[in-house]
Amino acid sequence: NRISPITKSIVFIGFMGVGKTTIGQLVAKKLYRDFIDIDQEIEKEYNMPTTEIFKQIGEKAFREKEKSLIEHFSQQPLKIISVGGGAFLQEEIRNICLDNCIVFFLDLSWEYWKDRINLIIDSRPVLQGRTLEEIKELFNNRQEIYSYHHSKVKTDGLDVEEVADYIVESLK
Ligand code: S3P
Repeated sequence: NRISPITKSIVFIGFMGVGKTTIGQLVAKKLYRDFIDIDQEIEKEYNMPTTEIFKQIGEKAFREKEKSLIEHFSQQPLKIISVGGGAFLQEEIRNICLDNCIVFFLDLSWEYWKDRINLIIDSRPVLQGRTLEEIKELFNNRQEIYSYHHSKVKTDGLDVEEVADYIVESLK
């Protein structure tokens, strides 16, 4: 563990379930920084899980809250921030993160990702009610928004500690 000379905040992007939260937490610990998970912040504000926010209040309100929270946190230094897999659909979010932070894309292949689906589907309204084929299509279509990054880590076959160590090394 050591302190990085980089004071910009770090933002993790990537598809649902690639490990943004777990890896972000590990990196934060290794760099002695605060970790912020935007989905958790949204859930705190509404005091309900994401699935309920989508059901009761709607995706539009979720996306607006997501944007204002990212705008708030990304302008602070020394944070480790994990944003939801759909955050970079919004150009304003992409720009504010790219301008103020170091954006890391956690890149996991479909072949690895598909084995995680049962672990994450219950808490991801965007995946619910879709066939595997439709989810694969969404996965592929979403890759375009993740091309907006400064650094990319290919995480196929790596455990979260290995990914976190690699990221910390790359920030020295
Ligand atoms: C979403 C991803 C989720 C969460 C919401 C919508 C998306 O975050 O923000 O369910 O549209 O990809 P994770 O990527 O952390 O699962």
